[in-house]
Amino acid sequence: MHSNLPIGIFDSGMGGLTVFKAISRRLPAEDLLYLGDTARLPYGTKARETIIRYTLLASTKLIERGIKMLVVACNTATANALPALRARFAPLPVVGVVEPGARAAISVTKNERILVIATEATIKSCVYTAAIQALKPTAQITAKACTLFVPMAEEGLMTGCLVEGVAHYYLDDVLNLKDNLPDTMILGCTHFPLLKDALKNVVGPTMTVVDPAATVAETVEAELACQNLLVATERTGQKHFMTTDNQERFARTGSLFLGEELSASAVELVDL
Ligand code: DGL
Repeated sequence: MHSNLPIGIFDSGMGGLTVFKAISRRLPAEDLLYLGDTARLPYGTKARETIIRYTLLASTKLIERGIKMLVVACNTATANALPALRARFAPLPVVGVVEPGARAAISVTKNERILVIATEATIKSCVYTAAIQALKPTAQITAKACTLFVPMAEEGLMTGCLVEGVAHYYLDDVLNLKDNLPDTMILGCTHFPLLKDALKNVVGPTMTVVDPAATVAETVEAELACQNLLVATERTGQKHFMTTDNQERFARTGSLFLGEELSASAVELVDL
């Protein structure tokens, strides 16, 4: 493996761009190669076997291009396919988002009560509960599938009464708890950070909202350093984007996720 190869970053759609952004900020010299499998999105409502199949396919595409590390910037794919990826592609380092997310939440919770919001397939896998309890066995976890947040984020619908209404629909039973209210909420889907402001309005100031992206970027840096794979020179890394459907839409929504203009001509259309 050569340190000048790019880091491959994968998500079912645009959500992984929130992780892409955090990695690009932390490691500006690294080349980044992103693949959003927008043709098959959403993964979060699909069966485990389907998620594993799609994730292996998409990861193979990145690996064929030549990468030094695979970042699974999708909680659903991490929750269901991480062991299969590691088994198939060893010795390539594969970093998921769930363990860093669990670590980030443990570092901020005071009452050890944590709310995890994610897709149906992530919640069903129970990986967040396992990852949090591996770090803090006494922690109490409440998990909520918030399926509609994914298409809302893909649509660029980030704030306002519609988003807050849907958040109330999913979260009011937790928020109405008199005692035992979690003090920390993990955004356990890489699409959800786009809705962060609206979600903060709904959960109120007593709950800390954790976006795992920064901790994922730290993990990527530590893992690359450990394997002597960090880019050695000072430079600005190249960024390349691939999608399996509709470059124009990828560029439009991608610009919202990245907070910078992305043109359709800069997005490559690929088939898996
Ligand atoms: N971004 C994906 C995640 O983090 C979810 C989107 C989907 O359902 O495909 O779980």
